[in-house]
Amino acid sequence: MARLKVAVLISGRGSNLQALIDASADPDFPAEIALVVSSQGDAGGLARARAAGIRTEVINHRAFNAKQGFEASIDATLRGARVDLVCLAGFMRILTPWFVERWRDRLVNIHPSLLPAFKGLDTHERVLAAGARFTGCTVHFVRPEMDEGPIIIQAAVPVMPDDDAETLAARVLAAEHRCYPLAVCLIAQGRIRVRNERVEIAGALAPAEVMMFNPVG
Ligand code: GRF
Repeated sequence: MARLKVAVLISGRGSNLQALIDASADPDFPAEIALVVSSQGDAGGLARARAAGIRTEVINHRAFNAKQGFEASIDATLRGARVDLVCLAGFMRILTPWFVERWRDRLVNIHPSLLPAFKGLDTHERVLAAGARFTGCTVHFVRPEMDEGPIIIQAAVPVMPDDDAETLAARVLAAEHRCYPLAVCLIAQGRIRVRNERVEIAGALAPAEVMMFNPVG
């Protein structure tokens, strides 16, 4: 069966991209990474993509006068590659409603918190400042409002008493690397449906597909 064609949009180190590349190396994984688009020419993730033989494109917003041109260029590149699904993985540009609506329910993001809590940047610092006992990560469909949209997969991750932002980020990142391939797999299998702005997973009674990430085994 043809595999779902996925593009990954990055701006940085690309460890989530790597998790998706590793998952798709299995011929039974129902999706392939057809294209990586980076907003930064020096993003570490570009080397990961090249090492895996994946086509890369750098589309830097500074090359365009307006956001419209930047996004139109990304959109044309994605369409030219006949991509079915777009994964944001550390892509540091906020996309306009124009782009988000063009890719509605075919555009997903990973965020390092249990949404709708702790939207935005500096997530782990704010989790620690709030004294939360659990945090986690969320893969969700993108909507025009930042870090909003129907939730596909979440993993809960405990906050340890001696955590700092770095140790917490590392624990959450390990969960991200498990969640993103799982979410893409479910989408590629055609098991995900958005109804009334909530995700239904065929063959799973909620919350059977929700993961509780256990760092000790
Ligand atoms: C991840 O923590 C992701 O949740 C957030 O940006 C970070 C990207 O890391 N959106 P990487 O580039 O995938 O290593």
